[in-house]
Amino acid sequence: MSGVELYANELINYAQEHPCLTVIFVILVLKKLFNLFKRGKSLKDEVVFITGAANGIGRSTAIRMAKLGAKVAIADIDIKKAEQTAKEILDLKQRAIAVHCDVTSIESVNKATEFVRSHLGNPTILINNAGIVSGKSITELSYEAIERTFKVNAISHFYTIKAMLPDMLKANKGHIVTIASVAGLGGVSKMTDYCASKYAAVGIDDSLRNELRQQKSAVKTTCVCPYYINTGMFDGVSTKFTFLLPMLKEEYVSEQIVEAIRYNVPIIMMPRIMYLAIFLKGLLPTCAIDIIGEILGLQESMETFKGRA
Ligand SMILES: NC(=O)c1ccc[n+]([C@@H]2O[C@H](COP(=O)([O-])OP(=O)(O)OC[C@H]3O[C@@H](n4cnc5c(N)ncnc54)[C@H](O)[C@@H]3O)[C@@H](O)[C@H]2O)c1
Repeated sequence: MSGVELYANELINYAQEHPCLTVIFVILVLKKLFNLFKRGKSLKDEVVFITGAANGIGRSTAIRMAKLGAKVAIADIDIKKAEQTAKEILDLKQRAIAVHCDVTSIESVNKATEFVRSHLGNPTILINNAGIVSGKSITELSYEAIERTFKVNAISHFYTIKAMLPDMLKANKGHIVTIASVAGLGGVSKMTDYCASKYAAVGIDDSLRNELRQQKSAVKTTCVCPYYINTGMFDGVSTKFTFLLPMLKEEYVSEQIVEAIRYNVPIIMMPRIMYLAIFLKGLLPTCAIDIIGEILGLQESMETFKGRA
């Protein structure tokens, strides 16, 4: 038997022994191949409104989209940092403006939307990215902190979507992006407010996608569910088994977000092993999932959390 035949036989044996893993692998390969033959949509002259874009993922995604020809609105409560990000983009000879926007205020969101409309045009891509985390156990959390987490991470999405979706529907073109988290797909200790708000964000995206499909609208949605990222928001968290669950890099995450928008992907999870984890979550009993979470160190990851100084 030749070396190639031996190798092929081993692969066939492996596939027969691990049918679930094989199916997932084949789906991922087909998806990748399909994308290779598809041309992603152009971002040239799109008007992108990104909340929380002064720092972290929002900032990195804004720069990336501007480099692809989009006009970018850096909407943030931190106007000084938003102006710095906009300047960085202008220095690259690309188009951007900074706009003050507190996503927890309907008035502020509407004012910021109007400002962007008059300077860049109607937003055609909305990225709901602004987010906060408390990192406390439920008994330590104040009611104010719980409400603020919900307002920033979830309720604000209604404000921005209601401000920008009507124009997208009229034009029958647009994209609404939800920066959620894997914490919106599974619960983690010391994150009750954060996880609940991210579950809500995932729910908003899921319903909105179906609502748009029912209306036969061409407006698209993308839900982004990453694991911990090195932006500083989750400074101090511990991660075990980094080969399985690495701390994600900001640049990698923003690249994946832009690709998902260009290829109209409805939901992305990072790292890729999360697709398997969510598949198993639906398959295995809760006690098994809880034990796996403990073994992987997920449930103690927030014990060393410091967050932004
Ligand atoms: N960092 C991670 O590990 C991680 C993991 C998964 C998901 N996420 C999500 O990704 C998104 C971006 O996170 P990041 O790591 O870049 O965080 P970050 O702290 O670096 O940036 C968040 C931005 O949101 C802004 N913001 C906060 N409150 C606001 C408000 N009321 N109005 C407007 N802007 C406001 C902040 O000023 C900041 O610029 C968040 O929604 C977060 O929950 C982050």
